[in-house]
Amino acid sequence: MAKELTLNYGRKIPQIGLGTSRIPKDILEDTVCLAIQKGYRHFDTAFAYQNEVEIGKALKRTFEDGAVKREDVFITSKLSGYYQAEEDVYSACTESLRRLQLDYVDLFLIHSPLSLKNPGYFVTKRVDTGYFARDLKSTWRSMEELVFSGKAKSIGLSNFNSQQIDYICDGARIKPVINQVELNVRFPQHQLQRFCGERDILLTAYAPMGSPGHPSLQNTVEEKVPLLQDPIISKLAERYRKNTGQILLKSLVDRDIVVIPMSTNPDRLTANLQVYDFEFSEEDLKSIAGLDDGIRRFGRVKSKDHPDYPFNLPF
Ligand SMILES: NC(=O)c1ccc[n+]([C@@H]2O[C@H](COP(=O)([O-])OP(=O)(O)OC[C@H]3O[C@@H](n4cnc5c(N)ncnc54)[C@H](OP(=O)(O)O)[C@@H]3O)[C@@H](O)[C@H]2O)c1
Repeated sequence: MAKELTLNYGRKIPQIGLGTSRIPKDILEDTVCLAIQKGYRHFDTAFAYQNEVEIGKALKRTFEDGAVKREDVFITSKLSGYYQAEEDVYSACTESLRRLQLDYVDLFLIHSPLSLKNPGYFVTKRVDTGYFARDLKSTWRSMEELVFSGKAKSIGLSNFNSQQIDYICDGARIKPVINQVELNVRFPQHQLQRFCGERDILLTAYAPMGSPGHPSLQNTVEEKVPLLQDPIISKLAERYRKNTGQILLKSLVDRDIVVIPMSTNPDRLTANLQVYDFEFSEEDLKSIAGLDDGIRRFGRVKSKDHPDYPFNLPF
């Protein structure tokens, strides 16, 4: 089982969750059920992944089996960019809950500050409606209402930079509990972690394994070997008798970061929870630190013209 970290209002979050964005739909329900059997209690989804229905089926099946109860699992979903107008947030969350067959989510995140025009219906695939810059504070006020109405136990951000986080926190009735961002040993986000730590906000690492094959990385110039095959990580894997993915996760969980690795492989699903039974030497920690190359690979360069584009700042 994963350890739990404490969110800024006292509730706990399992530190290791299952990322679900690229799990093929035909195996998603079974993968989530298997993950629950293996001890996963935290699942990361989003309206944008169009997979909440399958996750909902898996959860229903598991609750009906009596294997776990609703209160034993931590479910995160995310507000799509299309529905960030303050009047759309409630119905967007309600739609996610309908798909998930749940009464509440444990965490609801603004998926990104890159707000889009609402096409007027719940999309089933990406449509090009164009940018629609909004006051992020007004979106946040509607997010707070989700907590007041019981639809979300907690709320947070994803892909927000430090200025945007402070803008949200200023005058907030409820502070964000988490910012979910690209984070792995090559892009360790130390400055953002320090900044968020001072505000009692945890980081969740997406792409902890470097997200091999992710379509958003297609336009990234990548001259290095894939992170999971990095020679330093491979050497450490041999030394600690772990696989390279476990080494990558361990380096993050030791920093009190929440991680949401995706896997559909039964052995790796198991392995990814088994990262608490060894410790890196000081020397090995230094070699891991040396892998930081400062390159943001999920730079979303196509959105550079958006007024709320978050990645013009280093953090
Ligand atoms: N908020 C955002 O904007 C955002 C953006 C991207 C992703 N996310 C979230 O973050 C989650 C994780 O990111 P990701 O799916 O892009 O990438 P990732 O977790 O970095 O990489 C997943 C890949 O790693 C492999 N893998 C997993 N464990 C392994 C291990 N122990 N050893 C070797 N290989 C291993 C998996 O293959 P196998 O299946 O074969 O094991 C899969 O191909 C997503 O699923 C999604 O929930 C959020």
